[in-house]
Amino acid sequence: MSNMSVNGQNHLVIDGVDTVDIVNKYGTPVNVYDISLIKQKISAFKEAFKNYENKTQVAYASKAFSSLALYEMLAKEDVSLDVVSGGELFLALKAGFPKERIHFHGNNKSYEELEAAISEQIGCIVIDNFYEIGMIKELTDKCDTKVDVLIRVTPGVEAHTHEYITTGQADSKFGFDLTSGQVETAIKQIKSIERINMIGLHAHIGSQIFEVDGYQVVIEKLISKAKEWKNAYNFDLDVLNVGGGFGIRYTDEDAPLPLEEYAKAIMSAVRKHAELNDMELPEIWIEPGRSIVGEAGTSLYTIGTQKTIPSIRKYVSVDGGMADNIRPALYQAEYTGVLANRVNEEEEEKVSIAGKACESGDMLIWDITLPQPDQNDILAVFSTGAYGYSMASNYNRLPRPAVVFVENGKDFLAIRRETVQDYLKLENSIENWK
Ligand code: LLP
Repeated sequence: MSNMSVNGQNHLVIDGVDTVDIVNKYGTPVNVYDISLIKQKISAFKEAFKNYENKTQVAYASKAFSSLALYEMLAKEDVSLDVVSGGELFLALKAGFPKERIHFHGNNKSYEELEAAISEQIGCIVIDNFYEIGMIKELTDKCDTKVDVLIRVTPGVEAHTHEYITTGQADSKFGFDLTSGQVETAIKQIKSIERINMIGLHAHIGSQIFEVDGYQVVIEKLISKAKEWKNAYNFDLDVLNVGGGFGIRYTDEDAPLPLEEYAKAIMSAVRKHAELNDMELPEIWIEPGRSIVGEAGTSLYTIGTQKTIPSIRKYVSVDGGMADNIRPALYQAEYTGVLANRVNEEEEEKVSIAGKACESGDMLIWDITLPQPDQNDILAVFSTGAYGYSMASNYNRLPRPAVVFVENGKDFLAIRRETVQDYLKLENSIENWK
């Protein structure tokens, strides 16, 4: 599905736009998003999940990457939106994203965040804990409105991925524990509140998952539990949200499954267990984040200094790093890339790409083979669209990069580069301390 090519000048081209032109126009570091690819991914998800008897809904997990322009674009696609903070909700509402298609997640939603969600009458709140039940009751009374909710369950299933990004195992900060009666207590409490309309269950087992069995085990567990709760508390499983987590390709080592395989595994498990438990087929919701925007993002950096340690390694430094992409430092995530201004050349060498932060762990790529890099060459790092910009920081007072959208040969500045002047908007001089 990639819309990348190399032009006659040996430059990397993304969806019809020469990356060297992007760098000349916007500078580096810059994160480029291939908007055609994002749209293709959304329709691929919808296609893969559509040919089943029960209804399905795709919600984009916008923690992976959010921006006003992205939300505006998604508002026009037939897709729902998962937000996890007042900030994401604010931006989505500013973008005119249809409120009824917004779902609100999080393990520590504040009273103010819940108030914003409830007063705006968004589509659904995913209740994570008992505190929220109380706050939502109070707020629906105060706003004289009703709200649809899902109950987030920690299913006790571990997906095979990095420890920091698994969430479904029993020992997790998220959701109601399935093994200790917490879900039953939550159901009873919620059932007794007139203005809270419980529509079903949610579980998310982790991220960057390449296997289908984790989803199937969760589906089996939750549907059989839902049957028990139907009998005991008249609980209706109208919606089963199986979360996100679908894996993507960062390097050639990653072999993501075709979306149809995830869909088939999920939907056949739902049908099988609904039949076994004599239940109606629930609506299935999914929440992909990384798999919508990850491969659509490319980071462009300018190469600066180099250091060669004879017979050990050549370090090649770029003008970004862990401040705009924390994933290698935090999860030992691996990336690959090319020299965007000289993609294919005969002479190549093995180098390691260092970021510019004052920290030894700020290495973007260990051991990559590239045409011999020079100062001012442009390095393109692939598949940086998810959890790159969205987890960016100002560590070392490095300004956040610009974000540029490209589509069919056109480019658009979606988020301008931060400047050091922007820092002053938040700062107060000691002179003002009287
Ligand atoms: N739904 C829920 C409830 C989630 O917690 C997440 C991700 C998603 C959906 C979307 O998952 P995805 O399809 O993007 O895998 N910063 C980490 C990933 C953290 C994921 C947090 N939750 C990383 O860079 O790998």
